Amino acid sequence: MEKSTRDRVLHALMQTDWISGQELADHLNISRTAIWKQIAALKEAGYIIEANKKTGYHLADQGDRLTPLAIQQHLRTQALGQQIIHLEQTETTQRIAHEQAQQAVNEGSLIVCDFQTGGRGQLGRTWYETRGAGIAMSLILRPATPLHQAGQLTLLAGIALAETFRTLDVPATIKWPNDLLIGGRKVAGILTEMQTEADRINSVIIGIGINVHHEQFSEVLADRATSLKIATGKSIARAEIVALFLNTFEPMYRKWLTDGFASFVPAWERHADRLNDLVTLRTRQETVTGILRGIRTDGTLQIETETGLTTFHSAELIYWTEM
Ligand code: BTN
Repeated sequence: MEKSTRDRVLHALMQTDWISGQELADHLNISRTAIWKQIAALKEAGYIIEANKKTGYHLADQGDRLTPLAIQQHLRTQALGQQIIHLEQTETTQRIAHEQAQQAVNEGSLIVCDFQTGGRGQLGRTWYETRGAGIAMSLILRPATPLHQAGQLTLLAGIALAETFRTLDVPATIKWPNDLLIGGRKVAGILTEMQTEADRINSVIIGIGINVHHEQFSEVLADRATSLKIATGKSIARAEIVALFLNTFEPMYRKWLTDGFASFVPAWERHADRLNDLVTLRTRQETVTGILRGIRTDGTLQIETETGLTTFHSAELIYWTEM
């Protein structure tokens, strides 16, 4: 994929200790004014770049960046995250991942950005981001499984996220099918999208947004959103979280490919939010209240209502008034 000029400048700065503006301009085949503008933009984005008349520019501190280098330092996978496209800023990593998936990139390729300006959520909602505070990533998978099983990957990613958080000493629960909560407030969301050809999966794109460093949320979100920082008081490096998630998810994904979803049901139910509690859920046709009894071996939700145990393939648990 074409890298933006800013990413090319950043990449060049990362390759060397000091580099002059002229060298950068020659190397990237752009004007010195363009270099100067991009350096200013990178500083604005939080990179600490020293400038010296004689020696040029030096990237002194990347801050808490999501660069491939920072992530791969913690990575223990065979495929997931072995190819990473890092963007300083983009509208939505999902769109980039869709474009990449069409160009036959390897399974496990990851698109990640430091700041996402137009994140997409479930049901056409917006996923809000604060510059440098969250994780926005999209993982490209190519499972040779029947189409109807692809939704199970949302649940699988949910379990892997909950286990990632547990490793970091953060107790999170899963709100079926795609939300991760801490103390009843949302800390992460998953958006799974597919590319298909006839009735075959070409790719599954798992988009994950995690609130990491946010210190507060707007008044409207305050009672329903949280971050790892708010919940734990700790500032956990974003690159470490991404790598830990991929390290956790990869073996689960391999097992799912060979054995299916059934063996993951107990793990999902261990992390489930409001298991055996009264819940209300909305489908396209109706609103139902009942006791959340867990999931079936295919990942569908089981609710016990007055008429007995009912299975839901697609529904939304209502915790808040959605915007
Ligand atoms: C939800 O909770 O509704 C799902 C939110 C998913 C947000 C992530 S952030 C990375 C990826 N890119 C997007 O535009 N959306 C997903």
